[in-house]
Amino acid sequence: MKAKKLIEVALPIKEISLESVRDKSLCHSKGHMSTLHVWWARRPLPTCRAVVFASIVPDPLDELCPVAFGEAIDDLLNKGKAKAIYKPYADIPYTAVLDPVEDNRRNRLLAFIGQFSDKCQQNMLAGKATSPKELLSDYSLIKWECKNNPEILATARKLIWVAYNAEQEPSKSYDALSAEFDVAYKAISDAEKALYGTVDRHIECDANWDLEIALKMAIENFQNRMPSVFDPFAGGGAIPLEAARLGCRSYGNDINPVAHIIEKGSAEFPQKYGKPIVYSKAEFERIYGDDGIKLFQEKNANDGIGWRIDTKNYYLKNRLSFDVEYYAKKILKETEADVGYLYPADEQGRKPVAYYWARTAKCSNPSCGAEVPLLRGFYLCNRDKKKIYLNPVITGNDIQFEIKEGTCKLKEWNRRGVLTCPCCGSVTSVDEVKADMKKQQNPYGRMLAVISDSKDGKEYRIPNEQELRVSRQSFSSEDIQRPSDRMPIENVRNFNTPGFGFSNWGDLFSDRQLYVMNNLVRHFQQVKESVANNEYGHSLVVYLALLIDRIAAFSNSFCVWDSREIIQRIMGRQAVAMVFDYPESNPFSGSTGSAENHLEWIVNFLETEGFCPFSASFHNSSSGEKRQYEAKSIDVTVTDPPYYDAIAYADCSDFFYIWLKRTIGDLYPLNFATPQTPKMEECTALKHHQGGTDEKAKIHFENKLTQIFDAIELQTGDIVSIMFAHQSTEAWTTLCNSILAARMNITGSWAMDTEQNCGMKADKAYLESSVTVSCRPSERKGFGDFAEVKAAIEKKVADEVESLYQLGFRGADLLTACFGQAVSEFGHYKTVEKADGTEVTVGELLELARNAAFNTLLKGVQGDVYTRFYIGWLQMNGAGDADYDDATKFTRVGLPVDIQDVKSKNLLIGDGKNFHLAMAEEHLGDKGAVIGTRPEDSLIEQVHRAMLLYKSEDRALLLALIKNVAQDENGPFWRLLASLKELLPANDDLKQVEGLLQNAADLRESSKEKPREVIGDLFDTAR
Ligand SMILES: C[S@@+](CC[C@H](N)C(=O)[O-])C[C@H]1O[C@@H](n2cnc3c(N)ncnc32)[C@H](O)[C@@H]1O
Ligand SMILES: [Zn+2]
Repeated sequence: MKAKKLIEVALPIKEISLESVRDKSLCHSKGHMSTLHVWWARRPLPTCRAVVFASIVPDPLDELCPVAFGEAIDDLLNKGKAKAIYKPYADIPYTAVLDPVEDNRRNRLLAFIGQFSDKCQQNMLAGKATSPKELLSDYSLIKWECKNNPEILATARKLIWVAYNAEQEPSKSYDALSAEFDVAYKAISDAEKALYGTVDRHIECDANWDLEIALKMAIENFQNRMPSVFDPFAGGGAIPLEAARLGCRSYGNDINPVAHIIEKGSAEFPQKYGKPIVYSKAEFERIYGDDGIKLFQEKNANDGIGWRIDTKNYYLKNRLSFDVEYYAKKILKETEADVGYLYPADEQGRKPVAYYWARTAKCSNPSCGAEVPLLRGFYLCNRDKKKIYLNPVITGNDIQFEIKEGTCKLKEWNRRGVLTCPCCGSVTSVDEVKADMKKQQNPYGRMLAVISDSKDGKEYRIPNEQELRVSRQSFSSEDIQRPSDRMPIENVRNFNTPGFGFSNWGDLFSDRQLYVMNNLVRHFQQVKESVANNEYGHSLVVYLALLIDRIAAFSNSFCVWDSREIIQRIMGRQAVAMVFDYPESNPFSGSTGSAENHLEWIVNFLETEGFCPFSASFHNSSSGEKRQYEAKSIDVTVTDPPYYDAIAYADCSDFFYIWLKRTIGDLYPLNFATPQTPKMEECTALKHHQGGTDEKAKIHFENKLTQIFDAIELQTGDIVSIMFAHQSTEAWTTLCNSILAARMNITGSWAMDTEQNCGMKADKAYLESSVTVSCRPSERKGFGDFAEVKAAIEKKVADEVESLYQLGFRGADLLTACFGQAVSEFGHYKTVEKADGTEVTVGELLELARNAAFNTLLKGVQGDVYTRFYIGWLQMNGAGDADYDDATKFTRVGLPVDIQDVKSKNLLIGDGKNFHLAMAEEHLGDKGAVIGTRPEDSLIEQVHRAMLLYKSEDRALLLALIKNVAQDENGPFWRLLASLKELLPANDDLKQVEGLLQNAADLRESSKEKPREVIGDLFDTAR
């Protein structure tokens, strides 16, 4: 028997949540891994780091926890020392649920993972907000700024070392283990210094080779005594990256070749090759020539640290980042020399940032036939302080434009593809527009405006003659080599494609965009030929290929010019939605969307991720292969499987696959052997890949997940931690079934917010928390009695919901957060049977857990589904706006009502995008006055009617209503009012609710009397 892992007992979820929310906003920060290349559904780094760490270290308060580990905490986490930085909290509101926080080893370990800063604690007490960057203490392992902090990382690595080795050799003392760590750890930095300090280490010779081997050995010796961590669904590589950062042997699998390349680029190459190098002057100048010297000087001037020169040598902080920048600039310069004429500078010599295009369609009125730009709106910029739009100038059926400032009052011409002709007023249907566009040689439209940078921000103008002329240049098919790989156009549900005749991935690019892409690829190939054909050379080339991917994502006709006046790449929402008007970036502008801009992101990432000596290893195949690792040879599995049908990874990534295949397909022939990314074996529930039915898709997902978990269970020695972010019961049923079918049970379950500031804003629906469950192999024994299991689940779930509610969790996620707890109860038994002998399914069980959670939230409000819907929504989403996703999610997990249903009842008001809960007036205003006065009406109708009558001071009717439906003081009517009083924001409804409650006794009493002829001073309770 071994001690439980920390993750099975405790996690600082509030701290992890807030730093993870912050991580999402850091996606545009220098050096964040998401800036390397897009991948979908990335987990935030703080969550990954915390979950990996807590899945490895034991709970220090567990009786079986090795003594040495407890001592390690005492020594490393400052117990009793003057600088007690990991001191548990004094009483602060946020941790109310956990108060009092005792000063013990477990709490110190939690504080090491993440702890609110002193300033943040004080702010919390004073009810003040704290800026995201100051939320956590500077000593928190998961804090963004700590990712390269040598002391904190050494502490984390030592804690892991002691925990891991003390489990293998319980008799060893902490001192002995600590000393062994110090020796092995120092050996790495010594070997690094020796290698990276050697002049001209790039030259292949025995002496350099020995230094490289020495470093490899030092790393291997160290890691042989560290646990191994595996992620079978590695995606963008966040989990393996964090496992490697913690010093573990880190492995990742992904079926997708694009993910595989991104993983290598994120968590293998920077750690292996993003290192300092010293060149003798002669060597440096031989290799890089004048351009290299210039680049070096720029870096030396801008960055300084690490980039220096003396009489003999050039000192480079990061060989890989320098090479990537050097060779990328070469490619860009050569390409610009060939194609730069397509983007002429203006009279002042400025290079335009982008060109604004609109596709066109012919007006269906034969006597008009205007070629109408399909503009959905006319604004190029629509901000409070800056409004600029394209103003049409129409002569006959000729449409020209001028640029105007101010508010645009024009009505749009194009509503969801239906065209109203501005010349003749005729309407052309979507089908006609589609048919017209399919016939077009050029479905990329007409250039309408040119966007440039100026000292006052972006500037817009009408294109000049030269620009129009080059914009119309035609290219031979050989010049543009349009890729003919098909998009999954037959599928509209799981992966939207634009329609309108855009069937191939290559169709997304205009001719001139493809012409430029092909020139880039051509110069890329020349550079590739010139760099060394070894692993280092390949890694360098991978970044150049990723750069071309990034350029492709911003240089196609499906980008969007957003309200911040920057270009948004294609597939912002995991689909290729139709775009009628779009910005075409100028790759050579140096501004938003330009190639130089992309390069900067890549270089920044390389420069901040190169410090770690530990890299992860990746494998590109479908997971679930039982022979991949020996039985129990992986210590910990931490993973984030696909969320049922939420994202069509393979379909999305084909956009990049076609370019990567062209750029590095020859370096990775096995990964790029197939025409497109593998689809059939992907572990998702997408019916277009699985025989066309929902049922088949579901079975495929469940079988695949079970097969993969089955292999994991065989290969993993300790804990399996699984993150899951889907809110539907169906997806959860599949997940839990697969866990149980793989002979594991859930031993811990944690909800973590990853998208929004939980508990900080009162009126917004909280989205996208993910739940992490830790699992262990378990023997499910005997038969459970349903009544007992049900009672146990209801209790567990109620406790969990209460505690998460207090921690600030809201939204539909709150209901799913309790699923893990419910399953852990159920998973002890082989089967759970009802009184009639039938077996309870996981689906039924989750239904039960969901209801229990919902009832806890409803706090005992009984009544019909509409009333329960009303209160549930108010509990979870408040009275403010929620978007369509929240609304569907809510109805999916909440109650057996759908959006249409509650909309038709006027309970939810919305325009298709945003929804809010109806207040009394909105709910009943238009309905007949009798609704809500009868016993058969829903409770919320009765209460809202009473509120309206109270407001309009219609006492006689109010008394009649009360007499009819609200006589019982303890009845649901009054309890609903009491709940509303708790939940409504300070608005008009709240006033009526409070008024009714204040006058409740009198109203009930008066309602018993016979109606009076003359109604006196209404609601004069003093009478
Ligand atoms: C939720 S994502 C993982 C995201 C990752 N945690 C990150 O932060 O970037 C799930 C991943 O599972 C991969 N996947 C799907 N089916 C798979 C299979 N059969 N074997 C291996 N990987 C698979 C997908 O390609 C996708 O990258
Ligand atoms: Zn017309």
